[in-house]
Amino acid sequence: MLRSVIAGTGGYLPARVLTNDQLAEAYNLDTSDAWISERTGIRRRHMAAPGESTADMAAAACREALAQAGADASEVDAIILATATPDSAFPSTATRVQEKLGIHRGFSFDISAACTGFIYAVGVADSMLRSGACRCALVIGAEAFTRILDWTDRGTCVLFGDGAGAVLLRAEDEPGERGILSTHLHSDGRHGDILQVEGGMVRMAGREVFRHAVSKLASAVDEALAANSLAKADVQWLVPHQANLRIIDAMGRKLGLPAERVVVTVDRHANTSAASIPLALAEAVRDGRIRQGDLVLMEAIGGGLTWGAALARF
Ligand code: COA
Repeated sequence: MLRSVIAGTGGYLPARVLTNDQLAEAYNLDTSDAWISERTGIRRRHMAAPGESTADMAAAACREALAQAGADASEVDAIILATATPDSAFPSTATRVQEKLGIHRGFSFDISAACTGFIYAVGVADSMLRSGACRCALVIGAEAFTRILDWTDRGTCVLFGDGAGAVLLRAEDEPGERGILSTHLHSDGRHGDILQVEGGMVRMAGREVFRHAVSKLASAVDEALAANSLAKADVQWLVPHQANLRIIDAMGRKLGLPAERVVVTVDRHANTSAASIPLALAEAVRDGRIRQGDLVLMEAIGGGLTWGAALARF
């Protein structure tokens, strides 16, 4: 059976780090470290340097994923990049990454599904790999999110950060148990107004988003487990979208997972939108937590509303 196997993971974070206090001071915000960390778990975030593009960050994450897989860029025949902060409407950021990696064949395109973008990108890539449309795909989430924040809106600007993560997926004919087991994508445009970019800036009704988050994520997780005849107890790692520690903790509790089985980066990265899941994956693979054979559950919700889940055996 043809399956998409995760051959490598990579992540990149810009050098500049701002703690909550430094952010408050830099942008003259009426907020506090206590308010931000108590409600969200966020303590600091990375910020892209002037001139550092979404494609630059994505390419750096891809280089680590390629190196970890022992793959050469020439093997890649598809680049699928999820972002809410593309460098331009066109060329796509994925095509810019293709050029930066010196790849001159295959195809590349961007996906827009806000914070759910990486789950969508994995879903699309997995379908294309299993159909034979490509054999080796870089799947990326990359964001320069701090470029679309309204620094006078303390309710949203404290929540986000910049970065990129990537996975290298290879089509394998006899993967054993390994690979992407299934992806589950959803959207409902009726709730588009509660989290959107308007006039070039993020606008969010935080309470409303929170209200939808836990129930929609829980139903996507149930769907993913049922589709694979798996039980909650089979999940070894939860790698959730990193928006808010309270939402992450609620999902961990729902799955009955001990805290050490939930990969958390929101404290150090804040919400990096489409980049948050692949960044968390890269970190947990790098430090030896996630190992070959482990069952990993990913879930996300974001503007659209969009939401979804993916199950993968590493
Ligand atoms: N610092 C200090 N006070 C702040 C603040 C900040 N950064 N941001 C908002 N406040 C104030 C508000 O002005 C409000 O004050 P008021 O009561 O005097 O009017 C008060 O805090 C409560 O605001 P509210 O927005 O109701 O807070 P909340 O408890 O809902 O927490 C969020 C706000 C954003 C942390 C929370 O709603 C949340 O996490 N939502 C989900 C967001 C999310 O995950 N988005 C991404 C999805 S991909």
